[in-house]
Order: sequence, then structure tokens, then C-alpha cells
Amino acid sequence: MAHFKPPNVAFTQMAGTGVFAELVGGDGEFKYYSDGEWKKSCSGKSVPIINPTTRETQFKVQACTKEEVNKVIDAAKTAQKSWAKTPLWKRAELLHKAAAILKEHRNPIAECLVKEIAKPAKDAVTEVVRSGDLVSYCAEEGVRILGEGKFLVSDSFPGNERTKYCLTSKIPLGVILAIPPFNYPVNLAVSKIGPALIAGNSLVLKPPTQGAVAALHMVHCFHLAGFPKGLISCVTGKGSEIGDFLTMHPGINCISFTGGDTGIAISKKAGMIPLQMELGGKDACIILEDADLDLAAANIVKGGFSYSGQRCTAVKVVLVMDSVADALVEKVKAKVVKLTVGPPEDDCDITPVVTESSANFIEGLVMDAKQKGATFCQEYKRAGNLIWPLLLDNVRPDMRIAWEEPFGPVLPVIRINSVEEGIHHCNASNFGLQGCVFTRDINKAILISDAMETGTVQINSAPARGPDHFPFQGLKDSGIGSQGITNSINMMTKIKTTVINLPTPSYTMG
Ligand code: G3H
Repeated sequence: MAHFKPPNVAFTQMAGTGVFAELVGGDGEFKYYSDGEWKKSCSGKSVPIINPTTRETQFKVQACTKEEVNKVIDAAKTAQKSWAKTPLWKRAELLHKAAAILKEHRNPIAECLVKEIAKPAKDAVTEVVRSGDLVSYCAEEGVRILGEGKFLVSDSFPGNERTKYCLTSKIPLGVILAIPPFNYPVNLAVSKIGPALIAGNSLVLKPPTQGAVAALHMVHCFHLAGFPKGLISCVTGKGSEIGDFLTMHPGINCISFTGGDTGIAISKKAGMIPLQMELGGKDACIILEDADLDLAAANIVKGGFSYSGQRCTAVKVVLVMDSVADALVEKVKAKVVKLTVGPPEDDCDITPVVTESSANFIEGLVMDAKQKGATFCQEYKRAGNLIWPLLLDNVRPDMRIAWEEPFGPVLPVIRINSVEEGIHHCNASNFGLQGCVFTRDINKAILISDAMETGTVQINSAPARGPDHFPFQGLKDSGIGSQGITNSINMMTKIKTTVINLPTPSYTMG
């Protein structure tokens, strides 16, 4: 049985205090950020944020109205016009400043992540530091790639003389709407904010409810850095009340969304604007007979159970060759038993999942597998939102867990008799985010990687988005477009061309 560790709060600098005090109203509710100011909503209503560990209200945020959304988008439109005229090096300078402030205040922001989404304390700090680095990298990459354009001449196309010089450059799209998910409310917000701002866009952030307070703290770091009023704003509230209004708003010129099925609904409702989406995965881990089983087991546990499996890129199904399955399962079991289980403040490996309904969903998948005969490698155990890590062996394709994303610390193992069977299972999924293959034969690994219908395949390592400048994309229902810093900057720009027409052909003579 995995160990249970008692709570041990380690943060000294508290959320909503010090430089963050102005985020909080006299009633203790967190304000929203509009036109460079922290404001209370006219709705007079707030949305509670339930701490997944205590299952009590931890924070309250404003329930913004449609009128407030309109004002934010109007301000974003105005601010973007002058931001686009701000020299690239100045935009980069401000982003570097925001990154430094973000890293300086990593502790209170990490504390929010611990309280709102039960992220283990160390991982919470890592998320904030990684976010600062991401913002700095955006500044540097933007200066490089936005500082360059193309020069074309007309005589390469049949029938043309060299009478036209074509100059291309990248211009901003306008107002970007960023909607990050609960599992990385800071990092997956800045992965949209950084590229948007360096490219000359303004940005409206709608954070997830769980994670909203961490996002508000992060936005305040941009405020402290001195970005112009209205350029970045953050509206909080129920997706059911302002979600459609935001995503269908005519003032929005691009949506960058990370989350679940809601993304599919957004893509159907959004107008003729560029969309960038990452909507989850059912990442398969294929283990061949010649694999280094110790390496595979370590990656299965890290990939399957870090942040309690609540990552789009988590290992979500192990497809192992039957001849090595017993040995692999024993190695994984030996590591699972060592995972610590308990509160995020104590940095446990397995912490409560984000909501009670998530825990219920995970339990539903476990019970379905039980009823259909899966082998439980550990006893199923749950206390509130806390679910003990569970490895399910001998899972078959008729079980829901073979196909659905638990987004929890439950990992199915399917025994396969051929590589083709593994590839077939991977490709039969609606998802196609990442996958991984463990083998010592690089030639086989390349063939399998090419055969897997996923945006990325990791050879001899668990799936992962980072480093954050790598391209990150999903096929099928896993998403639209590609992310990663460079791709996001390019996605948030349009190509503009100017053609100089000459009265007579002009050839460079040398
Ligand atoms: O949850 C979705 C994230 O994009 C996964 O990011 O691989 O860094 O955990 P990660």
C-alpha cells in the first residue's frame, strides 16, 4: 500500500498579500483585471473555488457580466493599435521584465496552485519558474523571427520579367482570446500570452475556475512590469454565462484554447478566425520485447502518475508485448507502491484530483473495468477527491478505460501479441496527441513512430510537451494547429506583403 503523509504547509509568502494585496476586495473576494485596474464586478456575484483537498471554499472570484466582457474587448482593441506600433525590442524588454517578476513571486503563485488545483508544492513552484522562462524565450524568439521577412522577385514564375519585388512581413492578428485549462493555469496561460504580446497582439484571458486565482496573480506580474492599460486583461466567471459570449464575440480575432471537449464546441461556434486548440489525449506507451524494462517502468510511473495523471500528455494506456508483460508489470508495481499519497502541501506524488465529479468519473471507469474482469494490481482506495494510484492489468478493448481519458491516477495495461496490435489500438483512438515506444532498435522505433497517428512520438521516454520551444500538436480530436513558442508566435500573426512594381525589368548584374 502506498504511504499516506500528513499535511505540512511550507509557504511563507502568502497569496493575496504584499504586492498582490490590491487583487483582493474588502470582502476577501478576488477582483478581475480590466483596463489596467483591479475591479469588482457589477454583477455583485462571485464564483467559489473549492480546494480539492479540504473540499471547502478556498477563494472567491468575480462573476463578470457580458457588459464587462464588452468593455474589456473594446479596451483590448484600442490598446492593440498602439502596441503594434511599439518597437519589437521594447515589447521584448517588457516581457523580460514580467518574466523576472513572475519568477521573483513564484511562492505566492505556487501557493494558489496548491490550494486551487492540489498541485504538489514543488511542481507548483516549477510551473511558475517554467512560465517565467517561457515568457523570456518568447521575447527572444520573437525578436529573431519577427525581425525577419522575405524578399521575392517575379521572374521565377513563368511569363514574368523581374518587374515586381515582393516584401513580406508578419503582422499581428488583433485581440487574442486565451483559455487555459485547470492543470496548468499559469503555464498554459503564458504559453498563449507570451507569443500573443511579442507579436503585437492584445490579449483577453479567461482562466479556468480552478486555477483562476493563480492566473490573476500571474496577470498582476504583467501589470507590475508596466504593460499598457487594456493590453492584457483577465475576466473571471462561469463559462456557462460568459463562455459563448467570449468565444463568439466579433471583437475576438483568434482563440487559443487548451482543455477538453468544450474545444470541439468552440470550434463549431467561433467565426472565421484562426483557432489553436489542444484537447487532450489517450497517449499510448508501446513496449517491445527488447525494451529496457527498468527504463520503461520508470517512465510509465512518471508519465502515468505525475500530478496524479491529470496531464494531457500522461501515459494513459500501456501496450506491452505479452512475453515481457509479467516482468514489466512487476517493475511498475514495485514503483507504484513507493508513491506517496496525500496533500499537495506535503509534496506527495499523488494528491486529490481537481473536483469531486472528476473523482466520480475516474471511479466509474475503475468499476467498469472491475466488472469486466481487469486485474487490480493494488486495492482500489478513495477518500474524498483523493484516489490511490492504481495499475489495472489485463485490460481488454471492451473496457471503457481502454479508450477514455481518466485524468486521474489510474493506468490500464493491455497485453499485445504483435507490434501491429499496439499500433492498431493507438490509431483506433479518437485522440492523437502523443505516444511513446520503448525498444533498443532505433530502426523499429522510427517505423513505429511513423505508423502512430499522433502529433509526437517519444522514443524511450514518456510523452511530454516540453521543452516549451518544441512543437506541440495533436491529430484528430486532440487539437487544431501546432503550439510551442515559435509555432504560437507564427500562428498569432498574418503575412502582409507589399509589392513594388517597376516600370522596366531590373536584373542584378553582379
Ligand atoms: O495537460 C496538457 C499539457 O499540455 C501537458 O504538458 O507535458 O508539460 O505536462 P506537460
